[in-house]
Amino acid sequence: MAFDLVFFGGTGDLVWRKLMPALFQAYRHDTLPDNGRIIGVGRDDLTDEQYRQLIQTRFEQVDGAKRPNSEEFARFAQLLCYVRMDLSQPAAYAALAARLAERETDHVVMYLSTAPSLFTTVCEQLAACGLNTPKTRIVLEKPLGHDLASNRAINKAVGQVFKEEQIFRIDHYLGKPSVQNLFAMRFGNALFEPLWRREHIANIQITMAEELGVEKRGGFYETTGALRDMVQNHALQLLCAIAMEPPINAHADAIRDEKLKVLRSLKRWTPETLTQHVVRGQYAAGNVDGKAVPGYLDEAGVNPQSHTETFVALRTEIANWRWAGVPFYIRTGKRMASREAHIEINFRSTPHDIFKNPAGQSNTLVIHLQPKDGLELHLFAQGQSKRNAHTNMLSPVHLDLDFDKRFGSQRVGAYERLLLDVLDGRLNLFVRSDEQEEAWRWVEPILEHWSADTQGPRPYAAGTWGPSAASAMIARDGFCWSEET
Ligand code: BG6
Repeated sequence: MAFDLVFFGGTGDLVWRKLMPALFQAYRHDTLPDNGRIIGVGRDDLTDEQYRQLIQTRFEQVDGAKRPNSEEFARFAQLLCYVRMDLSQPAAYAALAARLAERETDHVVMYLSTAPSLFTTVCEQLAACGLNTPKTRIVLEKPLGHDLASNRAINKAVGQVFKEEQIFRIDHYLGKPSVQNLFAMRFGNALFEPLWRREHIANIQITMAEELGVEKRGGFYETTGALRDMVQNHALQLLCAIAMEPPINAHADAIRDEKLKVLRSLKRWTPETLTQHVVRGQYAAGNVDGKAVPGYLDEAGVNPQSHTETFVALRTEIANWRWAGVPFYIRTGKRMASREAHIEINFRSTPHDIFKNPAGQSNTLVIHLQPKDGLELHLFAQGQSKRNAHTNMLSPVHLDLDFDKRFGSQRVGAYERLLLDVLDGRLNLFVRSDEQEEAWRWVEPILEHWSADTQGPRPYAAGTWGPSAASAMIARDGFCWSEET
């Protein structure tokens, strides 16, 4: 299959940090289709050879295992070429059209890894040059807008030029092996399905914690914040994967229809729930891994009076037969105590106690997403220790399935997987416009509430689990976050 893959923003961070290493891995694993060209597009005046050198230099900053040696890079570099273009100039697109006309291909992928403000122009100009043929696919990187209206405007502009089945909206969480395992666990096994409902589940907690701060992205983050950066997309996609009904088959639209229903069933916000069930925080100076780190307000590119949130915890419910009344908690933040993402399914306690379970605990299924990938099922057993031999006191035990150990070297990284899916035309792991719009519709009242609230986010020390208000919120329901048990 001959393909041309065009990276708009070809010299940008995402391309050299994530996309090129992912393509190189696919090349190394021999899964990248033959006869491909990777065309970087950027403003800098570079020849093909200079672009290859730039990418080679950048590879030196990539994680060792994913770095090519010089011989491997020389072979991979044959695929790379470069087109200089100022994307805001309509005349510039002719250069790209000429480059693409050099050869016949089965597919052309246009990957927009640029500022979203350019998405509309790029699509219009591609159409003006006749580059929106049926064999073209377009990939859109987040953020796709900053609210519902701007998201719709982008979707509308792209939709005028490309059909929905040509549009690949990336949420890189969906490409993670652990997230695909979540679908596999739910829909490839019958074991949990009868328990996967309000009658058996007391609450569900989604945690996505990062140790890093905003790093060099202060300017971007100032206008984004954790709600737009992590909740509107990644966290809601995880919630959908957990809560959706089994799709009728594994086709993209069957899966996306079910996710959409979950988003539509999320309880609408009220003035009370906006105050009681949403906590925003901002990291202050603290210690991460024993190292002193500055607070958000002292980061480069950040307004010293900023109200931008670096942490969100919220509680919601899904108003349908399966989930009515079950609290779903979402929590995400930067500069937290450790880097980990997991989902905790807390089951209800036994209906009648004949044993003594340790301090109100019940069964829990922990779905580890990162850095560990696996499942942990927490149960109780009659321990044989002398101390509790006559007390009916049970001991916690757990089953631990480690997918990294089981599948280790065969695993494919998120961007590698997603890029191969684009080349293959598989939309399963990409987000449809209506899903995205529904997610924006749901987060928008929170954004409006915050913009009218002069109090601003609550500070938390870097290296902790966020403001205490997040613990108080969940404690009001009689539950606690996993690290507090
Ligand atoms: C990105 C956000 O979408 O996801 C970043 O813009 C965040 O702010 C990143 O750090 C987290 O991704 P991962 O894969 O490291 O959990």
